Amino acid sequence: MTDQAKGLGSQAQDISRAKRLTVPSIRGMKARRERIAMVTAYDATFAQMIDEGGADMLLVGDSLGMVVQGLDSTLPVTVDEMIYHCRAVARGARRALVVGDLPFMSWQLSTEQALKNAARFLSEGGAQAVKLEGGVEAADTVRKLVRLGIPVVGHVGLTPQSVHAMGGFRVQGKTAEAADGVLADAIAIAEAGAFAIVLEGIPSDLAARITASIDIPTIGIGAGVSCDGQVLVCYDLLGLTPNMRPKFVKRYAELYAEGKQAVASYCGEVKSGAFPSAEFAFGNVLRSDSSSRTASGADAPDVPADAPVPGGYGPTH
Ligand code: KIV
Repeated sequence: MTDQAKGLGSQAQDISRAKRLTVPSIRGMKARRERIAMVTAYDATFAQMIDEGGADMLLVGDSLGMVVQGLDSTLPVTVDEMIYHCRAVARGARRALVVGDLPFMSWQLSTEQALKNAARFLSEGGAQAVKLEGGVEAADTVRKLVRLGIPVVGHVGLTPQSVHAMGGFRVQGKTAEAADGVLADAIAIAEAGAFAIVLEGIPSDLAARITASIDIPTIGIGAGVSCDGQVLVCYDLLGLTPNMRPKFVKRYAELYAEGKQAVASYCGEVKSGAFPSAEFAFGNVLRSDSSSRTASGADAPDVPADAPVPGGYGPTH
């Protein structure tokens, strides 16, 4: 392994022998001053890529409403939809701890509703924990879930499910009084037994204050560098969201532009007949005289009936 590949952060990890991270191991990272890298994922292929990239936690966020479903908020996302995506992500992840997001109004109506829906993320979705948005008002529910064995990640500050109450996706905790409110929310969620908490869209010094005030890891998004970890939406991180460029997002790739260029090349080759060339085709039917001339007169390789072709989901031979 090169020196570069041994470093932390952007380097991929060999997860083939890596053990699944657990709730206690994530909690322990704060004490060990190990920063936590969390990324959202919504399907098995992305989950595998992000897992192999070294993320410690995969969040199946209800942000999928915006980046996968094309909605303008997360509000219409349902529990069934979340479970569907969770299951796919759980299949792709090997090392990272998978957290499923409880969508809008999926836990607030009653304790029974909260327990039932949260439990589905673990039993049907294959997640190891759930996340819910809310502060002081959510603490009792968090306490009940945790007591019954459902690990919880909290989420305070800018809580996208309250977009209308906030008057848009706005930074929270900007005045001294509002900052005290966000701190009180974080403390209530930590005291209720959450094992980590997302701090979204708050001033950096407030995030530092919260991080110093509670003993569970804080995971920031638009909350500055003092948090114990960071989370980004995978589409943002990979540059797959051409129409959105929030200030807190750093793009580590430009996959939208690259993907669009690749599709344009494919379309051009389909239209010109350059694709598929012989190397991407299965040759001709074996004939008794073993002649294998193509319509154009060129030789084309014959494909033995039992020729192995690696992988894929199309015909193999
Ligand atoms: O839904 C989501 O992806 C989230 C993260 C942005 C924290 O809640």
